Amino acid sequence: MYELEFVSGPQPNPLAAAHGARGMFVLENRELQTADVRSTRHVEVALPEGTTYRTGDHLGVLPSNSSALVDRVLRRFGFDATSYVRLHSTGPGRIASLPLDATLSVRRLVMHYVELQQVATRKQIATLAEHTRCPNTKPALLRLASGDDDAKAYREEVKAKRRSVLDLLDQYPACELTLQGYLEMLPLMTPRYYSISSSPLVSPDRLSITVAVVREPAYAGEGIYEGIASTHVSRREAGTRLFAFVKESKSGFALPEDPAKPIVMVGPGTGLAPFRGFLQERRVLRDQGKTLGPAMLFFGCRHPDQDFIYREELQKFADDGLVDLKVAFSRLDGKKTYVQDLIAQNGDAVWSALENGAIVYVCGDGGKMEPQVRAAFAELYRLKTGKDEAASTAWLNDFTERRRYVLDVWA
Ligand SMILES: Cc1cc2nc3c(=O)[nH]c(=O)nc-3n(C[C@H](O)[C@H](O)[C@H](O)COP(=O)(O)OP(=O)(O)OC[C@H]3O[C@@H](n4cnc5c(N)ncnc54)[C@H](O)[C@@H]3O)c2cc1C
Ligand SMILES: NC(=O)c1ccc[n+]([C@@H]2O[C@H](COP(=O)([O-])OP(=O)(O)OC[C@H]3O[C@@H](n4cnc5c(N)ncnc54)[C@H](OP(=O)(O)O)[C@@H]3O)[C@@H](O)[C@H]2O)c1
Repeated sequence: MYELEFVSGPQPNPLAAAHGARGMFVLENRELQTADVRSTRHVEVALPEGTTYRTGDHLGVLPSNSSALVDRVLRRFGFDATSYVRLHSTGPGRIASLPLDATLSVRRLVMHYVELQQVATRKQIATLAEHTRCPNTKPALLRLASGDDDAKAYREEVKAKRRSVLDLLDQYPACELTLQGYLEMLPLMTPRYYSISSSPLVSPDRLSITVAVVREPAYAGEGIYEGIASTHVSRREAGTRLFAFVKESKSGFALPEDPAKPIVMVGPGTGLAPFRGFLQERRVLRDQGKTLGPAMLFFGCRHPDQDFIYREELQKFADDGLVDLKVAFSRLDGKKTYVQDLIAQNGDAVWSALENGAIVYVCGDGGKMEPQVRAAFAELYRLKTGKDEAASTAWLNDFTERRRYVLDVWA
């Protein structure tokens, strides 16, 4: 009566395979912030057989959309959790990263394979207009898609508010785009990267990441905006799996080969992540009898009672003589103090480290923080040498080229 086909494990995810991502079991997921205002998670995963990493590498995480977001899509297109589809290829293209010819739920397709929250492009909005007959909705969409007046309507009403195709579909129910048309216009889900915050010398078969959870009132003015990957990671409990892969750091973001070389680390907020790995590694090297050069760490957070992440660990590293820890509190006493201010205040010690061949590492926000930290180093150079701005810029450029000023930054 029956023929049983035995299959090995759950259905493969071709998108994960395309990125070399593998299922990694979550071992620990805990809150690092001490006030219940924002959230930063410490997440540890077990490394699958054959996967290794180095201090300073990144973990690429292939996230899934939240159930709430997926339910919004299903509602908009009139599907429910029991709707299943089968995808067939009708031509070349990205379809190779999708589960072809397999039966899968619409829910699974929408959850794992496409980006749902990216800002709608003018081209996408024009496609929505093409699929709209309603005499009121069509011109409204065409106005948003138009390039008139330097695309003013689009810039102000879509881009600035970061409104997605889904937001527009909800706002304009008369648009008759099909689910197929919708999926075709969306980008495939992309991995997000996290700086690894552990060292393989301490934990070769597991690694940790440190994730700031993006969750705040949406720029559009309605509801809460939740980042896809940071929310996904934050909700993965111990025992569940994350699809992820280790990505080697190409920027030379690793401890110097000679442990006796001085280092200066600058990492406010989650920019601290790789330096936790660096400090773990320094402890092991010292235990092995190696002579360590001096290390300074400039960390910054809002308030000692809120977001001083890894506080006890950092204090212990400092107490054990593994690092000279300087912490800038930006919301403690009404006066903003940032890492760059502490670099200036500790100018003599920083300059002495630089003269002794120190490597400078900066991690975290590349939009404002890093340029301002760079400016603080330039200012220190001018102060110590009496030279002008052009000379300080040339000095920093040379420093960067010789990999003595190394970055792991993101916008
Ligand atoms: C090399 C590298 C290393 C990194 N290391 C770390 C790390 O160690 N720790 C860490 O936490 N992050 C790190 N990041 C950042 C991380 O990769 C993700 O970008 C971050 O977690 C946000 O991803 P998400 O999927 O949660 O948000 P997404 O869903 O991608 O959303 C982010 C987008 O939403 C927009 N947005 C933000 N707030 C709102 C709002 N209120 N309303 C509307 N739109 C909004 C932003 O402008 C941004 O375009 C790193 C990035 C890189 C490139
Ligand atoms: N961690 C979270 O819970 C959370 C939640 C939602 C979104 N996010 C977003 O995720 C990103 C990273 O968050 P994070 O936790 O790593 O860092 P963060 O909390 O945004 O910042 C860390 C510290 O750096 C300070 N800072 C701000 N601008 C700076 C600058 N130009 N130069 C030097 N220091 C500066 C901050 O001060 P001030 O903030 O006082 O100016 C704070 O003290 C940010 O974009 C943040 O908005 C984080």
